[in-house]
Amino acid sequence: MGTTITLTINGEVVTGTAGDTILEVCEKNGIDVPTLCHFPGLSERGACRMCLVEVTGARGYLPACTTAAADGMEVATESEELARLRRSNLELLFAERNHLCMFCEMSGDCELQSLAYRYGMDHVRYGFAWPGYEVDTSREHFFFDQNRCILCRRCVRACEEKAGHAVLGVRDRGPATLVCADVDYPFDQSTCVACGTCLQVCPTGALVDKISAYVGRREELDRVQTTCPLCSVGCAVEVSSRDGIPVRTEGIWDAGPTGGVLCVAGRFEPYYDSRPRITTPLVKRDGELRAADWEETEACMADALPQAGGLEVCTGLLSARATLETARAFGELFGERGFLLEGSGTEVGDAALDELDSADCVVVAGIDLEEDCRAVSSPVKRAANRGAQVVVLGSAGQWVDLRATARLEPTDLAGMRERLETSDRPAVLYGPGAPEGLLRTVDEVGEKVKRIGLARGANSRGIESEGIAPWRCRPLFGPVYVLLCDEDPTPDLLEAVADASFLVVQSSTANSLTERADVVLPSPAWSERTGTYVNTEGRTASLAAAVPPVGDTEPDEDVLARIGRVKLCRR
Ligand code: SF4
Ligand code: SF4
Ligand code: SF4
Ligand code: FES
Repeated sequence: MGTTITLTINGEVVTGTAGDTILEVCEKNGIDVPTLCHFPGLSERGACRMCLVEVTGARGYLPACTTAAADGMEVATESEELARLRRSNLELLFAERNHLCMFCEMSGDCELQSLAYRYGMDHVRYGFAWPGYEVDTSREHFFFDQNRCILCRRCVRACEEKAGHAVLGVRDRGPATLVCADVDYPFDQSTCVACGTCLQVCPTGALVDKISAYVGRREELDRVQTTCPLCSVGCAVEVSSRDGIPVRTEGIWDAGPTGGVLCVAGRFEPYYDSRPRITTPLVKRDGELRAADWEETEACMADALPQAGGLEVCTGLLSARATLETARAFGELFGERGFLLEGSGTEVGDAALDELDSADCVVVAGIDLEEDCRAVSSPVKRAANRGAQVVVLGSAGQWVDLRATARLEPTDLAGMRERLETSDRPAVLYGPGAPEGLLRTVDEVGEKVKRIGLARGANSRGIESEGIAPWRCRPLFGPVYVLLCDEDPTPDLLEAVADASFLVVQSSTANSLTERADVVLPSPAWSERTGTYVNTEGRTASLAAAVPPVGDTEPDEDVLARIGRVKLCRR
């Protein structure tokens, strides 16, 4: 606890902590100071001058976001003169680029527009520059419109300080200043990994998500806090929906394993999924899958499955995206004949991902962070940004490799050991492809090394903890039940079930496995699933449905209970 300081703000006596800025003291005491370039968790820039305040005895006006609060200070955050200054400032911002609000998707949600209303800015006394910059639409998921940019540089700081990718910067000077990716490349030709962190901090309509543009103002959307179910990192997310349709995923700042930073897959990709949904059970008759109700489907399975080789030989295969609750129901139904489609491939470590932020040496081995556990590339790059060693065994993905201070051969454990031994706070991130003996070497270096195992499969750690073993791919000839959730079947799986005597597939979307199935059962999509996951760190996380399930879809464990009731599978 720091020393308490006492100030008078707007005539009220308030307290803060030595080292706080005036803005921080105001925030702690519920005093609303207008800001634009300030964003919680980012370094301050003091660029927009919206937060100017009067401090008794000080010359001129001081930015609250960069001025240290002091014991005994007297501050005014609102006055006629401050309002006049803020209004002029807003007029200049409006005149500099193009902020014709009714044509902007952020209209109603824009911080610039809100401040213009707050300070009664009903006209602009300056000529509009309207520079007519080209809009960068090169990215599949978002666009960048310089014409709406107010040069607050929140995106630049968020890309570096939160996401670690450090792609954005500015070029040129004065009113011609432009935010750019790398040294002014279109986004899709830059080192941008499309994580979307910059979109989430932009106060105007300059950086905009293409899918959720024009779907409505923030307060018109239903919002649910949940966990991204796509990989084992389990980032904390807020999913917004409108009329039962998910429209946007955002990270929850300071929550979950990544503190609000997401990857392109978690933030955008589910919205681009064009696979047809399965909304009702389907039963194959005369070689064609036809919609059926649950009763008909259960009756069909009760008839056909015994003829297909005996219920006791039915093999169950479970997606690693299933919840713990589903895994328990699956385990009860299939016992030792039930397997996990994708095992974690790594032992859980002894540290949390946020410990990477204090490491002075980070080793990455056996994983491509641009393919798997992608948001973990952020703390690794942040480590590089602050001057820590980043040592990669083999490759951790092209952009992570670029930041590495050393790249070693994939099996160079001696080289890794030397780096660990000469560091004070080393950490090792190891994936399923890590060389044999890596953990033994880490153990020999001693307890100072933080270990973080990165797992394949979103909830593979949780499902394995229920005693369900990873499947060793082999041809299956008897009846087979595959619970795919919303995953696509792998070529290995398709080959393995080619000669199954009866195939039941529970899946949220149609795919090449459902085409072959004798019975297809619906499964909730990512945004409809509720339950519990265990992430790569071994931490428990909750999934909350953001939208209701479509059609006849039921929770996966309820469908398994139906199968149990008709006694299609016996141990
Ligand atoms: S999408 Fe991510 S990587 Fe790309 S510029 Fe924005 S924050 Fe940086
Ligand atoms: S793009 Fe948005 S966040 Fe970045 S400087 Fe412009 S207005 Fe600010
Ligand atoms: S890293 Fe994994 S959990 Fe996080 S947003 Fe990406 S896919 Fe989702
Ligand atoms: S918020 Fe303080 S100067 Fe921008």
